[in-house]
Amino acid sequence: MKIAIIGTGYVGLVTGTCLAEAGHEVVCVDCDAEKIAMLEAGGMPIYEPGLEELVRGNRDAGRLRFTTSTPEAVHASQIVFIAVPTPPLPDGSVDLSFIERVAREVAANLTGYRIVVDKSTVPVRTGQKVAETIKRYCRTPVEFDVVSNPEFLREGSAVEDFLRPDRIVVGVSSPRPVSAMRQVYAPFDAPIVVTDIQSAELIKHAANSFLALKISYINALSVICEASHADVQDVANGIGMDRRIGRQFLDASLGFGGSCFPKDLSAFIKIAEQLGYDFALLREVQRINAQQLDRFFRKIVDTLWVIKDKQIGILGLAFKENTDDVRMSPAIELCRRLQAEGARLRVHDPKAMDKARALLPDVTYVAHQDDVAEGCDALVLATEWSQFKQLDLAKACRVMTCPILFDGRNLFDKNEMEHLGFIYKSIGR
Ligand SMILES: NC(=O)c1ccc[n+]([C@@H]2O[C@H](COP(=O)([O-])OP(=O)(O)OC[C@H]3O[C@@H](n4cnc5c(N)ncnc54)[C@H](O)[C@@H]3O)[C@@H](O)[C@H]2O)c1
Repeated sequence: MKIAIIGTGYVGLVTGTCLAEAGHEVVCVDCDAEKIAMLEAGGMPIYEPGLEELVRGNRDAGRLRFTTSTPEAVHASQIVFIAVPTPPLPDGSVDLSFIERVAREVAANLTGYRIVVDKSTVPVRTGQKVAETIKRYCRTPVEFDVVSNPEFLREGSAVEDFLRPDRIVVGVSSPRPVSAMRQVYAPFDAPIVVTDIQSAELIKHAANSFLALKISYINALSVICEASHADVQDVANGIGMDRRIGRQFLDASLGFGGSCFPKDLSAFIKIAEQLGYDFALLREVQRINAQQLDRFFRKIVDTLWVIKDKQIGILGLAFKENTDDVRMSPAIELCRRLQAEGARLRVHDPKAMDKARALLPDVTYVAHQDDVAEGCDALVLATEWSQFKQLDLAKACRVMTCPILFDGRNLFDKNEMEHLGFIYKSIGR
C-alpha cells in the first residue's frame, strides 16, 4: 500500500521503515529540513539497534523515501499516519497543537478518500477532534476515515518491537477502514485488536501507566528491602516467577524517565481528572518515582558528606540502555543535582553523549568507559547499558581517589564489588 508518515522521529522513522520492510511504499515527512536532508544523504538522526541497515536497504530498494512536503506525501498515499510529538504542557495535560496542525495540513490537501491514522499517544477523544478538524478545514467535501493505532514500541528495541508486536490495536468509528488496516499489518504475525477509537486511545495510556505502576511498585519494595536487610532482586525474582505477575518491569532503580512514561502518566491523570475521576493511584506512582531519584541522590550525599569540588564519574546518560535518547533521563537530572552541589563530573554514555551535550554543557565527556573513573571520588552507574558489565573495575578501583560505587540500576554483584575493594551502594539490597 502507499503510506505517508507525518513526523519522522523515533516512532515515525521506525514505523515508516518497518512498513517499507513489510513491502509497502512509504514516504516519511518531517518539518525539520535538516533531519530530512540527513536521511536523504544516508545519515541517521537517531540511534536504534538495527534501524540504520533497514533504512538503507529500503531506501535503496525504492520503498522508502523522505520529504519535507506534507501536501506531496498526502497526495501520493492511501493511508496517512500521524507520528508527531504530543509533549506535556506545564499542568501535565497534553499539547495537541502538533496533531491539530497536521490534521489541518492533511485536510487542506485531501483530494480523494484517505485513511488518517493517529499513531501519536493522545488523550481519549482526540480522534473525534481530528475528524472534526479535517472536516472543517477540507477545501471540498471529501470522504475520509480517522483511525487510532497507538504504538507500543520501546526505544532501544524499537525495530524488533515493531516487527514482532504482542498485538496491534486499531480503533475505528466505522467498519470502512478495517480491511485496509488489516492489509497494512498483514505481513506482521500479531493479533489485531479492533475497537472503537476511544478504547484504542485509552489502551495506550492505560498500558503505559500500568507499566509505570509496576516499576514504582518494585521501587517502593526496594525501600522496604533496604530497611529490613532483604534483597529486592531476590524478591523481584520470587514474585516475578508467578506468571500472573511476570518478571518484566520489576527492576528497582533510581526511577523511570524518558519521553513517554512521565508524560503519559501525567497526561492520564489529567485526562481522568477532566472526566471526573481522581486517579490517586497514579499520582502515587509519580510520587514514588520522584522519591526514588531523591533517595538515590541523598545516598550519594550521605556517603560523600561534602559534594563541593568532589570529582564524580557518571556511567550512562540515556534514559535507558540501547538508545541515544536523553529526554527526561534520570541520569541527566542526577548530574544536574550533583553539579548544583558543586561536583565536577566526568561522564560517558555509549550512544547518548552527542544529545546530552546541549543539556549538560559543563561536564567532561570521556570517550572510553574505562577512563571515566580516573581521579574520581565516586563512580555512579545511572543507565543499565550491558557493556558497563565489561568495565575494567579492578583498574577503576586503582585509579579512583576513593573507590565508591553507586549502582543506580543494580547492574553489579554486591559481593564481587566489595571483593574488588569498592564501597558499593545499590538500590534495595
Ligand atoms: N518514543 C517512543 O518510544 C514512543 C513510543 C510510543 C509512542 N510514542 C508517541 O509517538 C509520538 C511521537 O513520539 P517520538 O518519540 O517519535 O517524537 P520525536 O520528537 O522523536 O519525533 C517527532 C517528529 O515529528 C516532527 N514534526 C513535528 N511537527 C510536524 C509537522 N507538522 N509535520 C511534520 N513533522 C512534524 C518533528 O520534527 C519530529 O522529527 C508521541 O505522541 C509519543 O508519545 C513514542
